[in-house]
Amino acid sequence: MKTHSLQTQSLQTQALQKTGTLYGVGVGPGDPELLTMKAWRLIRQAPVVSYLCNDSGESQARQIAAVVLSEAEPGAFELPLPMPMSRDRTAANAAYDEGAARIAEQLRQGHDVVFLCEGDPLFFGSFAYLLDRLQDQFPCEVVPGISSVNAAASALCSPLTLLTESFVVVSGRHTDEQIIQALQTHQSVVIMKAGQARARILALLEHTSRIGEARYLEYIGRDNQRIVEDVRRLSAEAGPYFSLFVVLPARVSRP
Ligand SMILES: C[S@@+](CC[C@H](N)C(=O)[O-])C[C@H]1O[C@@H](n2cnc3c(N)ncnc32)[C@H](O)[C@@H]1O
Repeated sequence: MKTHSLQTQSLQTQALQKTGTLYGVGVGPGDPELLTMKAWRLIRQAPVVSYLCNDSGESQARQIAAVVLSEAEPGAFELPLPMPMSRDRTAANAAYDEGAARIAEQLRQGHDVVFLCEGDPLFFGSFAYLLDRLQDQFPCEVVPGISSVNAAASALCSPLTLLTESFVVVSGRHTDEQIIQALQTHQSVVIMKAGQARARILALLEHTSRIGEARYLEYIGRDNQRIVEDVRRLSAEAGPYFSLFVVLPARVSRP
């Protein structure tokens, strides 16, 4: 009897201690129809849906998932986490600490938390910083999403890589030398985070004689999607944050 009551007590303690699971859910680049069925189900069923937002409370990830959130369970609530839009890592880390603490509070109460991630959660995704803070303490799962790179190739109807071609992703935050090396070494190159770096990227494409192979895309999958086939026509000024360049080799049609 004593053993039984100890077992019961331990089961009760385990039940009391059961935490929620953190789901990092990719919502794709913009078109809600590119949400996976799994993402759709998890978002609709989630007791808590979290996402990063700017000072005005706006969130691209939330906007993409808005149609699913309109079907959320009664009683479900949203947990927006403000993120300073600057490159200051100290401020960003403080915001991630605060965000992770607020998510942890929900998980400790046994609530599953679905964290919405633009594109794919683990591809240049801020979710990595929350995962880093929470995965040792709570069960975590990641649901992949369609990345902007894959969506760009689809929007262009062009293969990213074929046969023995090499492919690299760089960022407008890389140095001139890094971007030049990528453009000179690899046949297919995607340059993310092009917004502030647009003028510099155009100069580097010219410098490496790859400007004729480059195409520019912004807001892929959204109503204001824009594709520029001849990037020489682009003005050398800063563009929106959600923009990238795709540089693909000239290909023979039937190798
Ligand atoms: C922090 S990264 C996020 C990448 C995202 N996790 C993904 O899977 O594509 C942000 C960069 O991704 C690119 N990006 C993301 N979504 C985009 C979109 N809808 N249109 C164009 N570029 C996009 C831009 O280069 C932007 O600066």
